[in-house]
Amino acid sequence: IKTPIVILNFKTYLESSGSKALNLAKALESVSDETGISMIAAVQTVDINRIVEETNIPILAQSIDAISPGGHTGSNLIENFIENGISGTLINHSENRLTLADIDVIVKSTNEKNLLSVVCTNNVSTSMAAAVLNPSFVAVEPPELIGSGISVSQAEPEVVEGTVLNVSNANKDVKVLCGAGISTGDDMKAALDLGAEGVLLASGIILAENPKTALLDLVSKI
Ligand code: G3P
Repeated sequence: IKTPIVILNFKTYLESSGSKALNLAKALESVSDETGISMIAAVQTVDINRIVEETNIPILAQSIDAISPGGHTGSNLIENFIENGISGTLINHSENRLTLADIDVIVKSTNEKNLLSVVCTNNVSTSMAAAVLNPSFVAVEPPELIGSGISVSQAEPEVVEGTVLNVSNANKDVKVLCGAGISTGDDMKAALDLGAEGVLLASGIILAENPKTALLDLVSKI
């Protein structure tokens, strides 16, 4: 996938659920078409199929369970996500943390199936550990800044810089994204200047009065 990239994590906001999720995904699609910048949506499981059918942007799952086919009531199977058209998945978001062993299982199975894997981490050392598992991306997000409106790339640049340096030492094939509090063009530019290859964000766009305008602002300084 061409970098820089923007991954919008739809989480479970009402503003990014159901028919509103589809509208938001269409806004991402139109900004991607207009600017040529890769826009990806990480949507709730129940919204995946409809958004895959009605847009042309890559769609990620927000989480995949480390299970094999069989008796796992309430879980979601990777083979079924693939049949429903996902291009990859977030793994280990701070709002949905997994064990190291489960992260390893899921990264391995996404690699086998040629899917994008975005392992979310909370600091520099967990980012290095995640890089060794060989995902497509590590996305570092200090938990205290998530949903705060205070951008990691401006408030804690050393976290982004330290992650870029240490991830590349640990595994040069892994790209770094950053997230938490990112919403403006200046936030995104600061992230790229620090060596990140894109951003993972949510509330700054999802809760904006006009998400499409907010997305255009986000990529205006690249
Ligand atoms: O996954 C992205 C996320 O955790 C950052 O959230 O609302 O600070 O952009 P937000």
